[in-house]
Amino acid sequence: MPEMPGVPQRPRGPLSEALSTPEGKARYVRELFHEIAPRYDDITVWLSYGRDAAWKDVLVHMAAVQAGEPALDLACGTGDIAARLRDAGASVTGLDLTHRMLTLAAGKPALRGIHWVCGDMLALPVPDASQRIVTAGYGLRNVPDLRASLREIRRVLAPGGRFLSLDFTLPPQPVVRTAYLAYLRVVGGAVGQWLHDDPDTYRYIPESLERYPGAAGVAVLMREEGFSRVGWWPLMGGLMAINGGQVAR
Ligand SMILES: C[S@@+](CC[C@H](N)C(=O)[O-])C[C@H]1O[C@@H](n2cnc3c(N)ncnc32)[C@H](O)[C@@H]1O
Repeated sequence: MPEMPGVPQRPRGPLSEALSTPEGKARYVRELFHEIAPRYDDITVWLSYGRDAAWKDVLVHMAAVQAGEPALDLACGTGDIAARLRDAGASVTGLDLTHRMLTLAAGKPALRGIHWVCGDMLALPVPDASQRIVTAGYGLRNVPDLRASLREIRRVLAPGGRFLSLDFTLPPQPVVRTAYLAYLRVVGGAVGQWLHDDPDTYRYIPESLERYPGAAGVAVLMREEGFSRVGWWPLMGGLMAINGGQVAR
């Protein structure tokens, strides 16, 4: 699993400034996930109040895996969704930008039999129409060009192949939305200060969420990029969601 060249230093300073350009966001995201990788599994449980595993179960259930189907888990992190796809019978590749995440995943004895690739969701090192299933857990929100990433996903899916993505979304009611973002800033800031001596570390979640079109917006982009049977399903009262769609046969 060759590493992508050089991890840059995460810029300190206003987070909104760091994320204001595609290049800035790409640089910030690379360093951020390199830094938090060793704590990622615990953090995910804490920040989701233990619900993350159940959401990933739902996502893989919705993928309706058939034995031997090739499946690509994007932004695979430490391998949670890849493991579930393999357990469901798929032949799985886990892809992530962060070599450190992949090293942790590959080191887990329970994750044997998965092929790990260090790569970018914006330029997948995967042939056209080669996958039956593509998944992403908290992946789409991190890419600097969402439409380009959806185009790549569409390219690598075979006719009849399906894409499923789990991520945060924002509730439609403005008051609830503002309160939710404020809550994420306070909790994220406290956890970041405690674990990394930097409150911005997990404030990245609300900042990236504000710049993300949410599940409804992702569904619109998916339709525009040629996916069919596009839908999205809210989780946890509409604070999280699963997006899904297919490539027509
Ligand atoms: C929040 S973690 C999610 C990990 C895992 N999917 C899960 O559900 O637990 C986000 C992951 O996205 C990866 N990532 C961010 N930008 C990426 C990109 N452009 N291409 C591939 N992976 C990317 C990060 O390295 C990180 O491992």
